[in-house]
Amino acid sequence: MSVPKYFELEDGDRLPRIGFGTWQAPPDVLEKAVDAALEAGYRHFDSARAYENEDALGRALNRWIGGDAAKRKELFVVTKLPPSGNRPESVEEYFEASRRDLGLDYIDLYLIHVPFAFEHVPGDLHPKNPDGSMKMDYSTDLVGVWKEVLKLKKSGRVRHVGVSNMNEEQLSRLCAVEKPACLQVEVHVLFQQKKLIAATKQLGIPIVAYSPLGSKALADVLAAKTGRNYPNLLELPTVLNIAKAHSRTPAQVLLRFLLQHGVACIPKSTDPTRIQQNLSVLDFELNKNEMQELAALDRGEDGRICDFMFFVGAEKHTEFPFKK
Ligand code: A2P
Repeated sequence: MSVPKYFELEDGDRLPRIGFGTWQAPPDVLEKAVDAALEAGYRHFDSARAYENEDALGRALNRWIGGDAAKRKELFVVTKLPPSGNRPESVEEYFEASRRDLGLDYIDLYLIHVPFAFEHVPGDLHPKNPDGSMKMDYSTDLVGVWKEVLKLKKSGRVRHVGVSNMNEEQLSRLCAVEKPACLQVEVHVLFQQKKLIAATKQLGIPIVAYSPLGSKALADVLAAKTGRNYPNLLELPTVLNIAKAHSRTPAQVLLRFLLQHGVACIPKSTDPTRIQQNLSVLDFELNKNEMQELAALDRGEDGRICDFMFFVGAEKHTEFPFKK
């Protein structure tokens, strides 16, 4: 089964199916990693205001662009409205802050990062109460936020708009206004999101998978907090056996599985060798048996890593997207 290199978007723009993830990369490390990623051939870069490293990404991208409009066009740059900006009247300010830090005239894809909201506290994207819970804004008008985000597209400062971390019901509410260009959610071999992927296929919305390798660093932090056991995806015996059979790495097998599953992936790495490796997944193929063995690893909802429980109080928001 061959996998196309891009998702074709409705206006003919192309979303590369492998992108470069930047979550949890410290700015100085990220800047060098982006240089390596551009050199390796990545053109799709995923970022977010909430990652607090857009400026580092912007510096590296602009160095590479060097003022050449044709080179800018080669790139597909994504960023996201943070939870603190999830109010219609806040969209413009948060978007402009991202555009300024990235140093770009336009953004290729702007996503609503999550459906719930934090209070707007200048200078603090993750405002907390003294007891450690988040300063939540429980008054969110998600459809109102979506309408404001759509205005950014009309203004020409964004080419496409979409959403992240939304459930089917939320998607259908937004689709009633206008269909999002993509949905970015956690997807990996232990959490295959079969129902959501089938629903988005029906709607014609491409899925971009975050944490495609299981976000080991995040899983370690959560394991220390909750005592829960998060298996290392890169060490699953099925994955190791298939990797051996193809003389590939476990990460390449995990990514190839997702590509053949029909979704795009944004693996994060700051290591030049792994950065290169993660992009080299279009030149081998998993057979039907291997796909079935990997499909059997799905744990459904129990496989989810990023459940947002680290945002204490978010689960009480009426728009909290993950209900067991
Ligand atoms: P590093 O940045 O040191 O390479 P995810 O994309 O699912 O969030 O996973 C990111 C994690 O996986 C990071 O800890 C990253 O570490 C690690 N990682 C990325 N690519 C590979 C790879 N090819 N092999 C092993 N680990 C990888």
